[in-house]
Amino acid sequence: MMGQILRWFREHPDQYISGEQLSKQLKVSRTAVWKQIRQLRNEGYKIEAYPKKGYKLVEAPRQISAVKIASMLKTVSFGQQMKCYERIGSTQTKAFEWAEQGAREGAVVLTEMQLSGKGRRGKTWHSPPYKGLWMSMILKPVIPLQFTPHLTLMIAVALCRVLRQQNVEATIKWPNDIMLDQKKCAGILLETAAEDERVRVAVAGIGISVNLELEDYPEELLKHVTSLKIATRRSWDREQLLAYFLNEWETLYLLYMAEGFEPIRGLWEALCCHIGQTVEILTVHGVKKGKMLGINSLGALKMEQHDGKQLEIYSGDLKNPF
Ligand code: BTN
Repeated sequence: MMGQILRWFREHPDQYISGEQLSKQLKVSRTAVWKQIRQLRNEGYKIEAYPKKGYKLVEAPRQISAVKIASMLKTVSFGQQMKCYERIGSTQTKAFEWAEQGAREGAVVLTEMQLSGKGRRGKTWHSPPYKGLWMSMILKPVIPLQFTPHLTLMIAVALCRVLRQQNVEATIKWPNDIMLDQKKCAGILLETAAEDERVRVAVAGIGISVNLELEDYPEELLKHVTSLKIATRRSWDREQLLAYFLNEWETLYLLYMAEGFEPIRGLWEALCCHIGQTVEILTVHGVKKGKMLGINSLGALKMEQHDGKQLEIYSGDLKNPF
């Protein structure tokens, strides 16, 4: 129904339509019309309501421009193929489908909003419209399966470096959350299809909360998450940010393919906010507590426990330090 209302507005620019006319045309109740108008407003459409005249669409949200992104790319393959959607379930699913149909390495699926955005560990990812960068990239790296964490750590480094170049004090929380003011503003989800212990295709999903405002988040998330806009008190140009990010990421990817993980590991450790601090990691073997020393060559977290023993943790959730 929302689509029908929008279509009416698009086909009748600058015209008014009353709630009653809309409800007759769409064969739904006035309340249903009102709810849809409210939903459109939530999604960024400016719809004014005038007594006696009805509703008028004043401004539609500005959609991300693939052409503008392309004009700022300096890459060979990253982002050179791009599909932009207005709303889809998850860019991850679309990217896997596209990979099966022959998309090249570096192809990007981008959407204005996700209806079922996926986070790590089966969580959902809050992806409201027109304010974030919700994207997935297809990668076909020639690496063994156990090296896939390198890819996510590299992406975190690329994003964090780009933000720092813009004078934003971003840091990385192990393994690959991007943090601002100790709150998460971006996350990375890597999913792979493997064959014979080798990566056949990897889809790297990145969610960057760019211009979201406090009211765009459900109450319960606000303790842990933030956006670039909230943290820096200004709006960001999403196309420019994405282009900078893809440029930086491809540079690091080429560096990785040429020299291996060691240079990326050094960069990652320099940007991590917890090195040298006491941390608690929730693992399948219980909570592990100790001083974070860094990461090893496979991206596992190295910690020193209070008895001096060193531990390497491959998977777990880092609780905030105390
Ligand atoms: C995390 O839990 O930190 C990972 C979040 C990853 C979210 C992004 S948004 C674009 C892509 N599509 C998805 O469904 N998820 C990833």
